[in-house]
Formats: sequence, C-alpha cells, structure tokens
Amino acid sequence: MANATKHFEPTSRQGLGYSQPGTVLWLLGPTSAGKTTLATRVVADLRGQGVPAILYDGDEVRGFFGPDLGFGADSRLRVVSVLVHLANKAADAGLQVVVAALTAGQDARDYVRENVRNLTIGYVACSVQACAQRDPKGLYGRAMRGEIDTLIGYNSEYRPPDNPDLVLDTEAYSVDELAARIVASYVWN
Ligand SMILES: Nc1ncnc2c1ncn2[C@@H]1O[C@H](COP(=O)(O)OP(=O)(O)OP(=O)(O)O)[C@@H](O)[C@H]1O
Ligand SMILES: [Mg+2]
Repeated sequence: MANATKHFEPTSRQGLGYSQPGTVLWLLGPTSAGKTTLATRVVADLRGQGVPAILYDGDEVRGFFGPDLGFGADSRLRVVSVLVHLANKAADAGLQVVVAALTAGQDARDYVRENVRNLTIGYVACSVQACAQRDPKGLYGRAMRGEIDTLIGYNSEYRPPDNPDLVLDTEAYSVDELAARIVASYVWN
C-alpha cells in the first residue's frame, strides 16, 4: 500500500474558504474500476470531518448533454473540458474537489494536466477481466453481446495513464482501505 498514496498539495484547514483554494483529485480508470464508488466515499468522509468537498462525475455531465452526445474522441473531450471548468471553479471557491471520469484518451489526459490547478491524478486500477465481472451497469455484457461498440476496455484497448500521482488498486484493496488512505493524504496545516 506504500505506493498507493502520496501527499496532496497542502491546504490549510483554518484557511479553507474563499481566500484559500482547494485541491482537485481526478480519479480516472476503466469502466467499473471503482471511480464513482471511491469518489463518493472520499467526499462523504471529508464532509464528515467538516471539510467542504464536492464530487463531479463524468456521467453527470454526460447526462446533462443528453443522448445526442456520442462516444467519439471529440465528445469525450467535451465532457472532460466541462469537468475541468467545474473543478477549477469549485476549487477556487475553497472546496476540495473529487472528479470521477474515465478520461481514457491521451488528449483528455493532457488537457486535464495542463488546465487543472492543484491537481492530483489518481489512477483507479482494475484489470479489464475484473471490471467485466463487476459490471454494475451491464456495459461489458452489452458490449459482449454486440449491443454497443464504444466500450473502451472491450471494443478498444484501455491504456493506463503514464504518470499518475496515485495508484489505487481496487482489486488488491477494499473501498474502506483506499478511501482511508486518500483522506489521510490530505495535509492540513
Ligand atoms: N476496492 C474497491 N473500490 C471501488 N469499487 C469496488 C472495490 N471493490 C469492488 N468494487 C465494486 O466495483 C464497482 C465499481 O463501480 P463504479 O460505478 O464505482 O465504477 P466506475 O469506475 O465509476 O465505472 P464507470 O466508468 O462505469 O462510471 C462497484 O460495484 C463497487 O462496489
Ligand atoms: Mg462511475
């Protein structure tokens, strides 16, 4: 577990508020890896400690655009660019931000690195085999039956990120363990 955590940019708890920007933890990884599960838990735990925190999920933004938004690179980048904007604004307002989004394309990853301030990228790692077994949304099943052909990890290769700041292995560690590590790695002055 030693390599699974790294200290975030320190943020003063006393200073949390409009004068002290928050941090952005960007969780990326394949479908069913555990991004939403982990992000939801981290935000709940931070709030439980009295730390203002917010979650932005890729599905939420995609849902806002509606069914016309496709799954090509441009559409995916559009979702990511909205998430980047929301994350920066919330962090500027002093919130600790957690983003959960596939972010599979190199262009999207580069965009995040270049445009998000106080950023930590967490790679939510899980083999495609294990993701396909979990399959809470049934997407792998649909891809296997040929009902969809846009599932990254099944219809096209999922490429792990090059230099994540954190690696969160959801096959090796439980939600409890990973969430506790993440929350502990926020540094308060
Ligand atoms: N250690 C773990 N961390 C997170 N999730 C886990 C872990 N072990 C098992 N799971 C399960 O894996 C599933 C992950 O689903 P989740 O919706 O969080 O994935 P996701 O990465 O957000 O997928 P998507 O890209 O489709 O939104 C859940 O059913 C969750 O309970
Ligand atoms: Mg999700």
